[in-house]
Amino acid sequence: MEEVDLLQEATQEAEAAEDSRALYEVKMKFLGRTGKVTALLKGMKEIAQEARPAFGKRVNALREALEEKFAALEEKVKQKELEKKLAGENIDVTMPGRHTKQGALHPVTRVKDRLIDLFSGMGFEVFEGPEIESEYYNFTALNTPADHPARDMQDTFYLTEEFLLRTQTSAGQIRVMEQKKPPIKILSPGRVFRSDDDATHSPMFHQMEGLVVDKHITLCDLQGMLDEFAKKMFSETSKTRLRPSYFPFTEPSVEVDVSCAACGGKGCSLCKGTGWIEVLGAGMVNRRVLENCGVDPDEYSGFAFGMGIERIAMLKYGINNIKLLTENDTRFLEQFKD
Ligand code: PHE
Repeated sequence: MEEVDLLQEATQEAEAAEDSRALYEVKMKFLGRTGKVTALLKGMKEIAQEARPAFGKRVNALREALEEKFAALEEKVKQKELEKKLAGENIDVTMPGRHTKQGALHPVTRVKDRLIDLFSGMGFEVFEGPEIESEYYNFTALNTPADHPARDMQDTFYLTEEFLLRTQTSAGQIRVMEQKKPPIKILSPGRVFRSDDDATHSPMFHQMEGLVVDKHITLCDLQGMLDEFAKKMFSETSKTRLRPSYFPFTEPSVEVDVSCAACGGKGCSLCKGTGWIEVLGAGMVNRRVLENCGVDPDEYSGFAFGMGIERIAMLKYGINNIKLLTENDTRFLEQFKD
């Protein structure tokens, strides 16, 4: 009998199905709209009238039996699949852990953060100017005449006739004084660019600029603040010394030395036997610069200072080549972890 064969065939195939997708396909093959059992019912009109009820009953019984069979098998296959999935997700807690490398702040960032921290404690606020500057802010407003050697193409990266990569964070002084009336006390960290390249110079480096403008500001205020800076940055016993110098935007101008922390001022290879190390340039803001920014030099005075952050980092950590700071060799950088 055809129905008995079909029951056997379907059962065999369904039991052989490995997963729910295969099982579904078998189910469709027999019970689907174009399936074999469905085809039996469709063929009913070819059967003699009187035999139809009995035939219909048998096919329906077959259909029900198969539906039950599939339901039971579906349940079984699903259970099997779940078990397989769970087995794959098993966590072996005895496996060794994976190590992730822990990063650390770059020495330049560390020194920059330390400087900001130190000067904020003295009431300075941070202002950041743009890296692309006009000639006016980088030179002219800073009282640097057009024929000054610092304007030479060899020192400065010009982008156009008017615009350049700033050679000093001093450019920010002008922007601050244009925007803000005294009292002014700002700190301006940032990248600067110069066409210069050897063991202690890099075409890109960082500076930290400071500017204080108020009534009755004198060179003594600058020196007092620098002493405080040297003690906090280098060592409690550090001293500072001012030497006359020249910058177009300060008058008088000074170069500031700090007593050598490596030898305590006795003289060593780091300080080339002098006991002192030059750390920054500074001075009283030139009257002409104040005037250029609309600040009355008869009412206000100020001081400014600028230091190379790489230079401070090199002195503080005993780094002998500035290039180490941009090579990003992790063997070097790993030494600066807390
Ligand atoms: N801008 C100077 C330089 O880059 C440093 C400086 C800043 C000097 C402020 C005086 C006052 O060398």
